[in-house]
Amino acid sequence: MKKILIAYSGGLDTSCMLHWLKKKYKAELYAYCANLSGMSRAEKNKIIRKGLATGAKKVIVEDMRDEFMRNYVFPALKADAVYDGEYFMATAIGRPLIASRLAHYARKYGIKTVAHGCTGKGNDQVRFETGLYSLVKDVEMLAPLRFWEFRTREEEVAYAKKNNIPVSAGSKKYSLDENIWGVAIECGRLEDPSLPPPADAWQWTGGKLKKRETKITLSFRKGVPVAVNGRVMKPVAIAEKLNALGAAHKIGRADIIESRIVGIKSRELYESPAAKIISAAHFDLERMVLDRETLHYKEKLAKDFSLLVYNGRWFSPLREALSAFVDVTQKNVTGSVTMVLRPWSFEIISRVSPYSIYSRSLATYAVGDKFDRSLAEGFIKLSCMDIAKRG
Ligand code: ARG
Repeated sequence: MKKILIAYSGGLDTSCMLHWLKKKYKAELYAYCANLSGMSRAEKNKIIRKGLATGAKKVIVEDMRDEFMRNYVFPALKADAVYDGEYFMATAIGRPLIASRLAHYARKYGIKTVAHGCTGKGNDQVRFETGLYSLVKDVEMLAPLRFWEFRTREEEVAYAKKNNIPVSAGSKKYSLDENIWGVAIECGRLEDPSLPPPADAWQWTGGKLKKRETKITLSFRKGVPVAVNGRVMKPVAIAEKLNALGAAHKIGRADIIESRIVGIKSRELYESPAAKIISAAHFDLERMVLDRETLHYKEKLAKDFSLLVYNGRWFSPLREALSAFVDVTQKNVTGSVTMVLRPWSFEIISRVSPYSIYSRSLATYAVGDKFDRSLAEGFIKLSCMDIAKRG
């Protein structure tokens, strides 16, 4: 009997897909769901029950948040990766992790076919498929949403009803993808970019605004956050804490027109308070400990790194080589950054590092100045000799 492993979330698309695949291919279905956002035990059990009731032989749900933070979020953070100016790529870095787990279970259960519930015009189909093709030799990828008979969400809902597929009533207003590094919101009313986002579109930052300032100190070791206000915490706990604090101040929102891999523009909202705060603090520290050549080179590299990751090429030799380079640059990115969170924004107010290459005696305009000003004249004349007017 044919076996198919599916990337499963328990939502409308993947539930219909599970049922549809079983009927069409008379296959044995294995459903895999990575918990990257911190679901409760009850939510986990609900997904398992749903999957089994829809026809899966086995449903695997596993908490991958720690692995996600350490091996996907941190490499992106160290590289200062951001796409189209504002997107911290929570989804784009989550997909390769899911692909690697699908590869693992495909091997474990001897499965040759892997299916996902992505549409034909999104980025995630590219990421899942590129990820699997990069990791498994002879895998066949199936994307039913690209060829099945349903054209709209309503048709899927009708199919689910007819076949007693347990999906939550009423199709949701927006399409969401959420993990601990951020949430992406698209579709529905957002499809007209001339209209402001409706208040109900915001998933994390739509609550009551915290008006009082919050001062926090974030400590880093070799480019990754290790403590908040002096308290050493695990990566997941740090992200959760800063998401909660940042969201209360409505920090980390973005509303952008994004350039998708398949050539279209889309309007997307993002909320990523922890990513925004941690990334800003990280770059602030880099400015103090990295020599300017490395710092500037790294800024250029960040662009290439982001493109590779956005395009789903996480498991490529180039991405791995860039990460190796970035790791070398991070050996001195250790220290603490203090910032004040305010409504809608934050401000960095101080930083300290044992590896700081800022020298007060060279920078000062007050007594104690050790900078040799007499060198400046010759330095300038030499350095502009090629463009100076002569004769
Ligand atoms: N546009 C973003 C990306 O490509 C987010 C996609 C989120 N997916 C979703 N089903 N809403 O990374």
